[in-house]
Amino acid sequence: MKGLIVDTSASLHPRLVLAELPAPQVGDNEVVVRVEMAGFNRADLALTADHYPPETIAGSELAGEVVEVGRHCVGFKVGDRVMALSRGSHAEFAAVDCRLAVPIPEGVSWQVAAALPAWYMTAHDALFNQGELRAGETVLIQGVTSGVGQAAAQLARLGGARTVVGVARSNAKLRQLVNTVVDLGLLMETDWPAEARKATEGRGANLVIDMVGGGALTGNLQSLAISGRLVTVGRLGGSSDTLDIGMLAFKRARLIGVTFRSRSLEDKAAIARSFATDVLPHVIEGRLMPRIDRIFPLSAASAAQALVQRNEHFGKVLLAIR
Ligand SMILES: NC(=O)c1ccc[n+]([C@@H]2O[C@H](COP(=O)([O-])OP(=O)(O)OC[C@H]3O[C@@H](n4cnc5c(N)ncnc54)[C@H](OP(=O)(O)O)[C@@H]3O)[C@@H](O)[C@H]2O)c1
Repeated sequence: MKGLIVDTSASLHPRLVLAELPAPQVGDNEVVVRVEMAGFNRADLALTADHYPPETIAGSELAGEVVEVGRHCVGFKVGDRVMALSRGSHAEFAAVDCRLAVPIPEGVSWQVAAALPAWYMTAHDALFNQGELRAGETVLIQGVTSGVGQAAAQLARLGGARTVVGVARSNAKLRQLVNTVVDLGLLMETDWPAEARKATEGRGANLVIDMVGGGALTGNLQSLAISGRLVTVGRLGGSSDTLDIGMLAFKRARLIGVTFRSRSLEDKAAIARSFATDVLPHVIEGRLMPRIDRIFPLSAASAAQALVQRNEHFGKVLLAIR
């Protein structure tokens, strides 16, 4: 089969190389999927030897058809359409742990299915499991023009949030989200913490979902309500900052970190199940649609990589594998 592997040998900047590879063998707890579409995610830019040992197939999210079923994968059959957050998706076939495979509902296209798992599983977990969002609360999404940011804003609204405030760098992108995805859009270059407090009757947001990390921590805390929760999901702005412990204490706030990298398989499976139960009905009934930017053929993956690297995309970048 054809697949993209990460070549870390040649230079300081690892490249994606299209290679002829052995097709995966099915394990007892796996289904082998013929991949139709795969997400090209921000995480795919972190192509370090640390993330991807040499010869590892790139990619972390897919939609495709089951072609082989492991003997412990009860409830799956050849021909099923599934989506998953699973490694090795940038190839014609991928072995997926069937506890992470989510059936694609009828009528949902390959491209929509491939655009959902990473962003919507992450956003749903951050809002509801980690952030404990309740109906009627106010939410601020830091870095709202990112894919996870948009997903979080959409899900917060659908989850009954009273006000959803989005903060972003790019005015052009932010404008497209105001009224449809967020109630209020604020630019990073302004005094957005003050504006966010004003928009929440002076109290601040009950929940902040942060995609930016470095550079945004103080403002995020300033815009948080007393007893608020700050869930740190992304590090678009860097992974270090200075924490005002006094402000954290005064706000009696909770600071919560999340990542998939240190989760157990059971945790990931639970996230996939709650995504299927809570998010997919909104997709089926037309209330939720991921924004898709562009689709590249597998052979043009380096163009997808360059686009994401330059932050020029607005929505999901997909690779059409077949
Ligand atoms: N914790 C987890 O489990 C988890 C899971 C998935 C993703 N993530 C992380 O979440 C973050 C977002 O991922 P994604 O896939 O949603 O990203 P994405 O869709 O690629 O978002 C890119 C957009 O974010 C904006 N951006 C970039 N740098 C920024 C900065 N310093 N400050 C503000 N905005 C910035 C840019 O838009 P503008 O033009 O508006 O600047 C850019 O177009 C990443 O750090 C990713 O690694 C975490």
